[in-house]
Amino acid sequence: MSEKRSQFTGKIGFVLAAAGSAVGLGNIWRFPYLAAKYGGGIFLLVYIILAVTFGFALMCAEIAIGRKTGQSAIGAFKALDKRFSFIGVLASVVPMIILPYYSVIGGWVTKYFADFTFGYAGLAAQDGYFETFIAKPFEPIVWFSVFIGLTALIVLFGVEKGIEKVSKIMMPILVVLTLFVAIYAMFMPGAMDGVIYYLKPDFSKFSATTVLAAMGQLFYSMSLAMGIMITYGSYMKKDVSLEGSVRNIEIFDTCIAFLAGLMIIPSVFAFSGGDEAALGKGPGLMFITLPKVFDSMPGGSIIGAVFFLLVFFAALTSSISLMETVVSIITDKTKLNRKVTCLLVFLGSVLLGICSSLGFGVWSNVSLFNMTILDMSDFLSNSVLMPVVALLTCIFVGFIIKPKALSDEIEITGKFKAKKMFNVIIKYIAPVCIILILISSVLDALGIMKI
Ligand code: PHE
Repeated sequence: MSEKRSQFTGKIGFVLAAAGSAVGLGNIWRFPYLAAKYGGGIFLLVYIILAVTFGFALMCAEIAIGRKTGQSAIGAFKALDKRFSFIGVLASVVPMIILPYYSVIGGWVTKYFADFTFGYAGLAAQDGYFETFIAKPFEPIVWFSVFIGLTALIVLFGVEKGIEKVSKIMMPILVVLTLFVAIYAMFMPGAMDGVIYYLKPDFSKFSATTVLAAMGQLFYSMSLAMGIMITYGSYMKKDVSLEGSVRNIEIFDTCIAFLAGLMIIPSVFAFSGGDEAALGKGPGLMFITLPKVFDSMPGGSIIGAVFFLLVFFAALTSSISLMETVVSIITDKTKLNRKVTCLLVFLGSVLLGICSSLGFGVWSNVSLFNMTILDMSDFLSNSVLMPVVALLTCIFVGFIIKPKALSDEIEITGKFKAKKMFNVIIKYIAPVCIILILISSVLDALGIMKI
């Protein structure tokens, strides 16, 4: 008999750890930028509706699969129906792809935090600073190694003493820091126009792509379709309310995304004199535009340091969930000892991450469809594998094991209030929507259709 499975101590530990996974770079950098692009208030509204229906149902399903079987993705699908363990295998590939490149970006965040803390804000705000930094062969790899080394260290301490403890400290600090920066940003001269731009619905920008973009963002933001919530569910105690926990995680994730918009959009607006184009800089927004914005603010190096610290916490708790998922899949499958697995996963990710990092410099000529190594990994995991896994999971739950198998698990602690909605979404609504996301994101990436 293998050793007893670790567990989160209770609801708070579980919710904070799962929210730690959900709240990440996606909330802080990607959400505000999408909201600004797709009509402000209207995007927010669509996103919130999708989060409490679609996101809720999928997250309940994944956590219930994990808790019911007590296993990580591959074992969980196998335990429910042997013929379908391939869904678990596909789901497991996703965190293996994401972990290395997510940590490369985590390394950039760490570097910017250090720059702002040690008084180099002016330097970080200079034109070309970011491009020069990421193209260097060694320095980004050093920061990446620091970030992933820290991730591995926390995962090594285990579910309760590592992940739960760190989440209980970092997540509340993250909320306080986010509120602080958001309030500061909103009250800067010229910032109110940005607040209005962010919150006022622009109905003319509403279209089917708004819904698709919101749904794509939702998946990534709630860490769905990559085995993470299955793994975390397998560490959840049976006497904790699953439905209530999912509601809390969802609120946490959406509130931080919303506040991130209030931090970023008004400050960029104030800085650029109301020029919306400054928001549409894609990945450059966080590393190119924001450092300039902070540098121009009174007290900006402190605000910048606080901002990059909160982004660092958000990214770290997410990378922890990615690594834990990979480690848990390997230990469940091979019965290797946890420490050895951690070391192997760490080394494997360092190798892959180095390739991603070099893709911005010496290997920048390695590309496919015009994408760098990092973009390619991102495309493969987010635009292809995740929708496929989500679709297969819905079909599996809706028609093979049937939603009742999971709603019974959810009802262990009492009535499942959203049971009807859960059934309908999993069986019909989610599969149709996911097929649409899949088609549009592939067309988008191949440049055939622009979302
Ligand atoms: N949910 C995280 C975010 O919003 C992203 C993430 C994806 C984290 C996958 C872990 C795993 O940034």
